[in-house]
Amino acid sequence: MRIFIDSANIEEIREINSMGFLDGVTTNPSLVAKEKRNYRQVIQEICAIVNGPISAEVIGTDYESMVREAEELAKIHPNVVIKIPLTEDGLKAISTLRDMDISTNATLVFSANQALLAARAGASFVSPFIGRVDDIGNDGLFLLQDMLSIFDQYMIDTEVIAASIRHPMHVVEAAKMGSHIATIPYNIIKQMVKHPLTDAGIEKFLADWKQNSQK
Ligand code: G3P
Repeated sequence: MRIFIDSANIEEIREINSMGFLDGVTTNPSLVAKEKRNYRQVIQEICAIVNGPISAEVIGTDYESMVREAEELAKIHPNVVIKIPLTEDGLKAISTLRDMDISTNATLVFSANQALLAARAGASFVSPFIGRVDDIGNDGLFLLQDMLSIFDQYMIDTEVIAASIRHPMHVVEAAKMGSHIATIPYNIIKQMVKHPLTDAGIEKFLADWKQNSQK
C-alpha cells in the first residue's frame, strides 16, 4: 500500500518526506485554508518537495468552473491530480478531464455506487472518507472493502485512496484489505512510527552499553 500524507503544511510534508516512504500528498480546501497562504504557491511548493501525485481540489461546484479550475491547477506541475467532489457535475468534469489527459481524484465518496460511477467516468483515483462514515455510525472500513472487491472483480484500474483516516488501526485494516493507497494525517503518521517497546529497547541498549564501556 502506498503512503500519502493528507496535509497542506509545508513543514509537515518536508519532515515526513525526509523519512523516505512518502509516495504522494492530498490536500483539501479546509487543509489549505488552515495555512492562510496562496493556494497555487502551496501546491507549487509541495510539488517541489514530493515526487508523486499531489491532489489539489477545485472549489467550483458547477461543471464549467470545475473544468476551468482543473485546467489552471494542472498547469502548476505534471504531478498535480485534480480532486473533484462526487456530484453529477463532478462526474461530467471527471470524464471531460479524462479526455484531456488530466488525472482526477473523486473526493467526498461515501458509497460503493459513487466509487463505481467515478471509476467508469474515468477517475484516476477515488477517495472514500472512511472516518466520516464511522462518524455517522456506519462502518467506513466495510465501505472500503466493498469498493475494493468491486474494482477487483472488474479489473478496474482506478486506484482507491483510503481517506479521512482517524487512527493507526484504520491504516492497518486498509493495508490488509489491499487498499492501493492510504492518505494519512501528520499526527497519525507520527503515531505509526512510534512504539513504546522500541523506545524502551533503545534505552536498555544504551544503558547496557554505557555500563560496559566503563569497564
Ligand atoms: O483526504 C480527506 C480528508 O482530508 C478528510 O479528512 O479528517 O476531515 O474527515 P477528515
